[in-house]
Amino acid sequence: MSWFYRNLVRPALFSLDSEEIHNRTLDVLGWLSRQGVLCEALASLYQATDLPIELFGLRFPNPVGLAAGMDKHAAAVPAWEALGFGFIELGGVTWHPQPGNPAPRLFRAVSDAALINRMGFNNPGAEAVAARLAEWRAWGRWPNHPVGINLGKSKIAPLGTAAADYANSFRILGPHADFFVVNVSSPNTPNLRQLQDKAALDEILAALQEQQPGAGVSPASESSSHRAGETPALHCAKPILVKVAPDLSFEALDEILELAGPRQLAGIVATNTTITRPETSDPDLKRIYAEAGGLSGRPLRARSTEIVRHLYCQTKGSLPIIGVGGIFNAEDAWEKITSGASLVQLYTGLVYEGPGLVKEVVRGLQQRLEESGLGSLKEAVGTGNT
Ligand SMILES: Cc1cc2nc3c(=O)[nH]c(=O)nc-3n(C[C@H](O)[C@H](O)[C@H](O)COP(=O)(O)O)c2cc1C
Repeated sequence: MSWFYRNLVRPALFSLDSEEIHNRTLDVLGWLSRQGVLCEALASLYQATDLPIELFGLRFPNPVGLAAGMDKHAAAVPAWEALGFGFIELGGVTWHPQPGNPAPRLFRAVSDAALINRMGFNNPGAEAVAARLAEWRAWGRWPNHPVGINLGKSKIAPLGTAAADYANSFRILGPHADFFVVNVSSPNTPNLRQLQDKAALDEILAALQEQQPGAGVSPASESSSHRAGETPALHCAKPILVKVAPDLSFEALDEILELAGPRQLAGIVATNTTITRPETSDPDLKRIYAEAGGLSGRPLRARSTEIVRHLYCQTKGSLPIIGVGGIFNAEDAWEKITSGASLVQLYTGLVYEGPGLVKEVVRGLQQRLEESGLGSLKEAVGTGNT
């Protein structure tokens, strides 16, 4: 299947504008999501085997998730499950609806298997996403895996009011998802990454904590909607993670880690896209790399793994990490897990390798577990660091 995608489907898709293809794919997946029978047919092709792991009180049927940015409208929630994902992160969602940056804003660097984007949090706003999520539940199409939401800052909100802006989104979306990711690491909203500064981030996390029902209760000790097979408990404290940039120094990462205990962080998502560019003498790549925005895909892999490893070693494995950046196959996912990630996510790999990728990665992880004689995924986490 991936040969078919790589050699026949991908060349056709890549002959068209990247954002246009993205939108059309989401339209098709959104339509499929409403057709129960077709979704089942999709699942019969792509459903991954069970490779369960429990983390921050949630049960994940497998550790491979959809990274933020792919489905900002919650347009195709059931389809991602049919494509084999063990969890999804919707968004980035901001409090105010916003169009994002002017197009073109998404570029392919094909020979490096990379993307550059400067989308700028184009999204319909927290209230519209909450309404869409309520619809999926009402239609009985809610997936059997955890659903997370990536929270961004509205462009019109000055940095000084960022905490209130994030808190507004969290208040509206809180009942509709299983976990939340505070995104202060996108390079495409002016000055957003300054919010990775410890004091600014602390203010945002404090504002979100205040919105948690029964504020002060550890998310991990509360019941949540994906505690294996339970009916959704809509009003309970939700795990909150922070997503970091690959361009942060280890010292800056360590400062963020200092907030984990006081602000009851459930984990870290590492990493977002990078503003750095690989060396190249290829004139086509040079032209694409001159575009402003965040780079994802293969050139990001090593740096994001390095960050995962650093976070794992600094916390001695006590803080869950979701590893993301440049995962294109099971080997890449295994590298992230053995470096310290308990879960992984992918975006660019899906664009380059096609819809069979999740199933292939889960199968490959299962094989590696068996080969290494480990009984569960949890036992593999961080084993490459000793
Ligand atoms: C087009 C595009 C849009 C993205 N939008 C978001 C976003 O809204 N919020 C976020 O935290 N990350 C966003 N990301 C970053 C991804 O979630 C991921 O961290 C990054 O692409 C690295 O993973 P990859 O190499 O598998 O693509 C986006 C990435 C791409 C390519």
